[in-house]
Amino acid sequence: MIRLLATLALAMTTFATAARDPHSHANLDQVRMTALHLDLAVDFEAKRLAGFADLDLEWLDPDARELVLDTRDLDVTRVEGRGDDGAWQALRFALGARDPMLGQPLRIRASGQPARVRVHYATDPTASGLQWLGPRQTMSGRHPFLFSQSQAIHARSWVPLQDSPAVRFPYRARITAPEALRVLMSAENPDGPVAGAWHFRMPQPIPSYLLAIAVGELDAREIGPRVTVYAEPQRLDAAAAEFADTERMIEVAESLYGPYRWGRYDLLVLPPSFPYGGMENPRLSFITPTVIAGDRSLVSLIAHELAHSWSGNLVTNASWADFWLNEGFTTYVENRIVEAVYGTDAAIMQQQVGQAELLDEMRNLAPYLQSLVPQKQGLDPDATFSSVPYDKGAWLLRTLEQRVGREVFDPFLRGWFDGHAFESVDTATFVNHLRGHLLVEHPEAITEAELAEWLTKPGIPAIAVAARSERLAAVDEARRRFLAGEVEAGAMKDEPWNTQEWLHFLNGLPEDVRRERLAALDAAYRLTDATNSEIAFRWYMAGIRAGYEPVFAPLERFLVTVGRRKFVKPLFEALWAVPERREFATRVYAEARPRYHPVTQAAVDAIVGRDAG
Ligand code: BES
Ligand code: ZN
Repeated sequence: MIRLLATLALAMTTFATAARDPHSHANLDQVRMTALHLDLAVDFEAKRLAGFADLDLEWLDPDARELVLDTRDLDVTRVEGRGDDGAWQALRFALGARDPMLGQPLRIRASGQPARVRVHYATDPTASGLQWLGPRQTMSGRHPFLFSQSQAIHARSWVPLQDSPAVRFPYRARITAPEALRVLMSAENPDGPVAGAWHFRMPQPIPSYLLAIAVGELDAREIGPRVTVYAEPQRLDAAAAEFADTERMIEVAESLYGPYRWGRYDLLVLPPSFPYGGMENPRLSFITPTVIAGDRSLVSLIAHELAHSWSGNLVTNASWADFWLNEGFTTYVENRIVEAVYGTDAAIMQQQVGQAELLDEMRNLAPYLQSLVPQKQGLDPDATFSSVPYDKGAWLLRTLEQRVGREVFDPFLRGWFDGHAFESVDTATFVNHLRGHLLVEHPEAITEAELAEWLTKPGIPAIAVAARSERLAAVDEARRRFLAGEVEAGAMKDEPWNTQEWLHFLNGLPEDVRRERLAALDAAYRLTDATNSEIAFRWYMAGIRAGYEPVFAPLERFLVTVGRRKFVKPLFEALWAVPERREFATRVYAEARPRYHPVTQAAVDAIVGRDAG
């Protein structure tokens, strides 16, 4: 017990006391940015953003004379400082050595302590936080498209700043872009340009990873009192229909965790190369089109991004070592929204599928990545991404909820969001909050030893209760009988299955399932033609492993259009694991790579090699 407590203290003080962030070059202990103003032109020909960034500064250390900012592949041409007298003055600056993960520190020397600095710069065409699409990668084929993805440490590739979630700031922006295109940001979005420029304002303080921009041929449709969907014109009808429940989701979240504090909650549906399912950019979630299944069966993703309006955007992880505070809480809240809008059955099925996939993923995950707080410092957030912070984090909160009941747990969680609103917090802050609130009257919620195990040890604690759905148990039984040859594919079930039931069915197929069994399923259910991306993905995985020929043509189409890393990376891994498929993988990647986002390229390069493209 004593030893466990010591482990817990050790595992967390490292982060609690660090004024600097291991993922940032910034000298946060000496100076903090307090506001950002961007003035940028979007140049599609050169694939560059160019202009300047103004940073307002608060100097914490009276002796400090240097401001260190994060950059990656930025072309910095000039830096100026403005003192109390309001006069601008050129400042000396130097870019330091380039770290492959962190980029280059921009060291700015001042004689005094300027209240504002202006950095003139341009981005590189390969900026890791931007994707520039040619017209052929859009639905109409008529215009180019640009979008950003700043999380975790890519904001620095398009804005020089203190790129740490420990720092929060409001921002404004003035953006110029080609006339036919709409510009959107994670901010108050104007209806159109004024005198040729788009003006944006985000009044609440946000961390840098929530800075976002998109430029393209986009139409808008209001689908609720505070919800507008933006999408390419040809996708707008489908998107508006798919996401029609969004306002209800906001109401449910508010009833549980208090008022939605960001004004509007709009959705931007991106082209399919968007590397994530969704990104919780404030006031404007970025969404993959691969969740438009036609039957709303994948819209828990909207619940997830919306939930970040409390867990993440309001109460923010102070460093990427505390990522589970963002994603675990969000996965828990997502499920509460799903339960209220779509029912208990749907919610429990999602929990069970999530938990099963987590356990499966952990079998091949290094032990230091299996704890909620990774037991190694300075890891690359892109390379170490897993479902641990998501589903294990949610599982811990679910455990607390089950022990004390919702009448106690719901107000506790609301108190966490209210008590730390617009703050960046670390795991130690949460543990203290737990001790100071929930545990005072409800010590049964969790023991210190149990908590230490969740936070610092691999695996899932034996005391955790697994979600169990009757309907998924029936799926297990149907699968068993089908695989044992006791029943024909077409007769293995009486009722149609929903998406979760199919996902569970496919996840449970053995690795060495025979080709002939897949053919029988295909004949009965046409799985090779599935247009639901989550079902298709799992079916392709099974098809690759079994060498089931009919999947390879649709798989190729999928891989050259969809750039969502969660799908693309495992598919290439599965292909690469079969020596006879490496040629196919190399050929398809050569075609797909130029269309992928840098973060997806990096993931697949590590499997197939970068020469393929
Ligand atoms: N914030 C994440 C996406 C992210 C995480 C981007 C880390 C970059 C680094 C977002 O909220 C998210 O979790 N998206 C998930 C969807 C969700 C339903 C699990 C995704 O993209 O798959
Ligand atoms: Zn998330």
